[in-house]
Amino acid sequence: MPDTPAHPLPGDPLLWALARTWLAEAQRVAVLTGAGASAESGVPTFRDALTGWWSRHDPQQLATEQGFRADPALVWSWYQQRREGVARAQPNAGHRALADFAQRHPGRLTLITQNVDGLHQQAGSPGVLALHGELMRNRWLSPHAPACPGAERSADSVARQWGGAADPAVLDSVPRCPDCGVWVRPGVVWFGEPLPEAVLREAEQAAQRCDLMLVVGTAGAVHPAAGLVLLAHSAGARVVVLNPQPTELDPLASLCLHAGAAAGLPALLDGL
Ligand code: APR
Repeated sequence: MPDTPAHPLPGDPLLWALARTWLAEAQRVAVLTGAGASAESGVPTFRDALTGWWSRHDPQQLATEQGFRADPALVWSWYQQRREGVARAQPNAGHRALADFAQRHPGRLTLITQNVDGLHQQAGSPGVLALHGELMRNRWLSPHAPACPGAERSADSVARQWGGAADPAVLDSVPRCPDCGVWVRPGVVWFGEPLPEAVLREAEQAAQRCDLMLVVGTAGAVHPAAGLVLLAHSAGARVVVLNPQPTELDPLASLCLHAGAAAGLPALLDGL
């Protein structure tokens, strides 16, 4: 009797088979991804002790409006470093498995991501709900600035708004809107800021309507993103967590699969 080939993934093969059965049965699948989905593309996660962004930086200093106003050049240099890293990254097999499934089953899978790296979009996933914005986009520092071109707001008034802004030479290194001179910032959601309303609403609807929510590569530490899993669970959906480590969302899971996204997602989705 030839040896049964070892299952390529950790854990009981029956659990993987069960998860695939549930996915095959689910008419509406919602997927929530976090930084772990991009880890195997070489993009650092946030809270992983050794490699995470936050292990070397203070998020309150870098990913908040206050932090930006205090030292815009430092924050821009950090985001520029992240942009250069992401520009070198390619979607991994996990990103591609999600995109391929969505293309085989139009309208059946809603992809909600906390990631700002654009790798799901690059892999071909349609209609990605980017809860935390997109790293490669810019936006105005003041969200209330009137739409430009021809804005009433001048650069000086923006500088005054900062109250004792840093040395002009430093501020001059901060990118400005070409039309009206207002300083721009990375197009990502910072701590303490609201998520894009329409995106969050669509994500909440998908969570409430899905038959199964697949939670991939997130510690589940940040709301309202993590709250989407509770929404799905409360609405009666099955929750499957894919993560090499335990997460705060595990208590809501019908099944926890302890593996990485690049191997785990193809194992779950390919061929369905
Ligand atoms: N495959 C799947 N998951 C992985 C992998 C992998 N190869 N490698 C690490 N992980 C898991 C870790 O075990 C961890 O649970 O990815 C998760 C990463 O957690 P965080 O670093 O906290 O990232 P995330 O949950 O996406 O953070 C949410 O917080 O800081 C804010 O805006 C930021 O979007 C981010 C949000």
